[in-house]
Amino acid sequence: MEIVRREMEKKVYLETYGCQMNVYDSELVLSILGKEGYSQVGKAEDADLILVNTCSIRANAEQRVMGRLGYFKSLKKKDGHIVVGVLGCMAERLKEKLLEHPAVDLVAGPDSYRDLPKLISALSEGGSRINTILSHTETYADISPARMNDGGVSGFISIMRGCNNICSYCIVPYVRGSERSSDAGSVVREARRMFEKGYREVNLLGQNVDSYIWEDNATGSKVDFADLLEMVAGVDPKLRVRFSTSHPKDISDKLIYAMAAHPNICKHIHLPVQSGSDAVLERMNRHYTREKYLERIAKIREVMPGCGITTDVIVGFCGETEEDFQETLSLFREVGYDWAFMFAYSQRPNTKAARHFKDDVPPEEKERRLQAIIDLQSELSLESNRKCIGKTFEVLVEGPSKRSKAELTGRTSQNRVCVFPAEGRKAGDYVDVMVETCTPATLIGKILNLK
Ligand code: 5AD
Ligand code: SF4
Repeated sequence: MEIVRREMEKKVYLETYGCQMNVYDSELVLSILGKEGYSQVGKAEDADLILVNTCSIRANAEQRVMGRLGYFKSLKKKDGHIVVGVLGCMAERLKEKLLEHPAVDLVAGPDSYRDLPKLISALSEGGSRINTILSHTETYADISPARMNDGGVSGFISIMRGCNNICSYCIVPYVRGSERSSDAGSVVREARRMFEKGYREVNLLGQNVDSYIWEDNATGSKVDFADLLEMVAGVDPKLRVRFSTSHPKDISDKLIYAMAAHPNICKHIHLPVQSGSDAVLERMNRHYTREKYLERIAKIREVMPGCGITTDVIVGFCGETEEDFQETLSLFREVGYDWAFMFAYSQRPNTKAARHFKDDVPPEEKERRLQAIIDLQSELSLESNRKCIGKTFEVLVEGPSKRSKAELTGRTSQNRVCVFPAEGRKAGDYVDVMVETCTPATLIGKILNLK
């Protein structure tokens, strides 16, 4: 009987590309499939169902997935019963075209994961193998994600889906649909559930968290992002709260003061600048100027001295001149970012930029600019970390370091990664670490006392 039962168990392998939102969505998918009797396996070769949750943000993200589909095709050749599905942003962008790929059996966009069991059974029973309908209301608020690292320390909660900002370079609004916020009560309940399961950090996710808004039907009262952040911070002082991503045009003083008021709201803001040139920002449709951006940075630093500030930037956008690029470099020096995600512009089909502007910076020049800003940021990161030497920070331990089991790794409130001798401490502990030395990416120190 045992053998029969085991053979009946369905196994899913899920590979995730792209942003944190996709990691979260993969947890939702595993939860939905878990209810259908699927258990997760760590290798594609062991699975009955192979799913790829995909990203469309840059052309190379899509190329990587296409490469994987080629490999899954070879697995299907060996074992005809394997089913392969494409989920997420590429599914939404390419729709039926993906079904023409010899590896692909089913396609599900970001708002149709509830439909997955039906799409899977359609393969044997007939019916549609694709759902890419975008929703104005789907938030999956009632589904508790199957946490990939159950027993983990840090996890994500999606507080909104979609995006209403039409940045001219960006595919997100087209593949993720329009903006909708999750029920504030369900966000707080999920945070509490995670804390009770041992989590010590939640990361609230949205494409633009500053435009979060939830209206309580019973009372008519409105909850904005600053209110929500305070509600989640109220779950327990030992639960750290982080969030991303903020938009420079929307980040409010109210939010900055709410962060300052709660020790367990981490002192880190990810504020994508995209460019330091007003002319480029205008073409990007970002709705702020360099001056306005710097004013927001000044406000953050006035209210929270030492707050970690990180950013995203795109080099080589349509029409970006050398002078425009120099303005981005000078803005980086002026702000002195702690860390940055840096990208060369990649034209995405049907975006505003693709329709209205010429992708006229040659690829070699994009690469040169990218390398120049990476070099600069590396200096700035080292400088920022050097300032921490000799100081003590509260660190939430995440687990053993990559290098050695005798060492632990964790983050400071400002989101700096810290490595130190374990001394018997474990994941989920808060420790005070005195920083002794550093690299651009890591602080290295020792524990002073256990909390
Ligand atoms: N090309 C390059 N980078 C992009 N990003 C978004 N769209 C593009 C694109 N077409 C970057 C932005 C964004 C981050 C998530 O990815 O910097 O903030
Ligand atoms: Fe995330 Fe955007 Fe990539 Fe979709 S396209 S996975 S929303 S980064």
